[in-house]
Amino acid sequence: MSNWVAVAQEGEIPLGECKAVWVDNDAVAVFHLEDGYHALYDRCTHEDYELSAGAVEGDEVECCMHGARFSIKSGEALCAPAYEAVHVFPVRVVDGNIEVRNDLDD
Ligand code: FES
Repeated sequence: MSNWVAVAQEGEIPLGECKAVWVDNDAVAVFHLEDGYHALYDRCTHEDYELSAGAVEGDEVECCMHGARFSIKSGEALCAPAYEAVHVFPVRVVDGNIEVRNDLDD
């Protein structure tokens, strides 16, 4: 099983924003929402553009390339032109560090 990796400190990512990081060679976007932190694979399922460059609205992120929207909590694709969900990684906060576990290959 993969290890937890510290990617940011609590307070580093403003509410409603995200940070692009790498975890075990995979791009991850870590979002800060009202209920805590969420981590998505940082690639739109339409044409691989970075979701971390998109606009956050509530608990959704809109890809800035062609406008597909995804649920930040579930990864679900919410509108065309994306139809496949984006992977959601486990996130936790330990001693003030935000940690992500890359479970893509588990
Ligand atoms: S690459 Fe994201 S909507 Fe096209």
